[in-house]
Amino acid sequence: MRTFTQGLCMQKNILTVFLLLLSWVACRKEQAQVEISAPLPYPLEIPKGMPQMQIPADNPLTVEGVALGRKLFYDPILSGDRTQSCSSCHRQEAAFSDAGKRFSVGIKGLNGSRNAHAIINTGFLSRLFWDGRALGLEAQILEPVPNPLEMNLSWKEAGVRLNADESYRKEFFQAFGINTIDSTFVAKAIAQFLRTLISADSRFDKRLRNELNLSAEELNGYVIFNTERGDCFHCHPADGGRLFTDNRFHNNGLDSVFTDKGLFSISGNPADMGKFLTPTLRNIAFTAPYMHDGRFATLEEVIEHYNRGGIASPSTDPLMKNVGKGLNLTAKEKADLLAFLHALSDSNFVKNKNFSSPF
Ligand code: HEC
Ligand code: HEC
Repeated sequence: MRTFTQGLCMQKNILTVFLLLLSWVACRKEQAQVEISAPLPYPLEIPKGMPQMQIPADNPLTVEGVALGRKLFYDPILSGDRTQSCSSCHRQEAAFSDAGKRFSVGIKGLNGSRNAHAIINTGFLSRLFWDGRALGLEAQILEPVPNPLEMNLSWKEAGVRLNADESYRKEFFQAFGINTIDSTFVAKAIAQFLRTLISADSRFDKRLRNELNLSAEELNGYVIFNTERGDCFHCHPADGGRLFTDNRFHNNGLDSVFTDKGLFSISGNPADMGKFLTPTLRNIAFTAPYMHDGRFATLEEVIEHYNRGGIASPSTDPLMKNVGKGLNLTAKEKADLLAFLHALSDSNFVKNKNFSSPF
């Protein structure tokens, strides 16, 4: 059992003896100590076949922390003009992507320069963002709040707002035993929530659990995907964790001149020009448009890109083996590959009530 001192005792600006007396009475009342029990460990279930999640030792998942992170994810209190939350650009029905938009719109109506990721199984990834600049969820979450093109709220002001809110003060105390809220703990709470956003219940997963059979088209699509015929599996592996991303950087042959330089903008190494982290393909049918700049509106267009083999440049990945010659898939093979990509949709993930807004 720990104790939490409820309420702030502000004595600034009190000018009369009468007010001083009143505030003294109020403070005595508000400083009542309440007994609060230690947070409960959150029972995170890692589906069979997926890797162990590397959870930082100083941020174990708790029931209280996850609930608090979920509330913060959906609360516009974290944006400058209180109109935008994380969920404005990461919508559950779109597998936590900003479906339909090439570039998401921040609070000042300004466009960002990249397509918002779907947030799926990110707890398993060691690097985040298209250019991999964040080395973990806690670090990643510090970015969107003060970003002028996104939520545009300084962390200082976010702290002032949250510390002035009695329910947040209580919830942060319950989750972390702290009396003063700051960016570190906001990031910890949201990271806990994001680690629970696990998707592993698609038709593909059900097939692996022997709960159903894939259709002949889906099965053939899987064979194309997972062999040299389509050659998708090197970068979007279905095996070895079932994440459909290797969480590595590749230039998949989109361009020869690079407006967005990707990893190069972080490393400065010419070999990294136009390299981006491979995104997961889970729930891909819900997250159009596609690629870091949302250039492809449909999955058919994506398949056509790979079918043509991609564009050669000094940094085009050696795993794009068909540059210049193309895959030459038949219409039937393209349709089957598409059917397989649709078999990665997890309708329970996009409807799961535990992930939806608590407001
Ligand atoms: C204005 C729209 C917008 C808002 C609001 C926003 N994001 Fe994002 N988010 C993006 C964009 C765009 C990217 C990709 C940026 C990049 O890679 O450079 C992204 C990327 C991410 C990623 C990386 C996923 C991956 O696989 O690498 C995570 C996690 C994430 N956002 C979480 C959050 C959280 C948590 C919040 C709230 C604190 C938030 N976002 C608010 C637009 C937004
Ligand atoms: C050399 C590695 C590599 C190979 C091979 C590869 N991909 Fe990709 N894929 C990537 C990378 C990297 C991106 C992100 C590129 C970007 O946005 O600039 C990507 C993006 C995608 C996207 C868009 C995802 C999103 O969220 O926007 C789809 C869909 C996709 N790939 C499907 C496939 C299919 C199907 C195949 C096989 C025909 C394939 N990929 C082969 C590396 C690869």
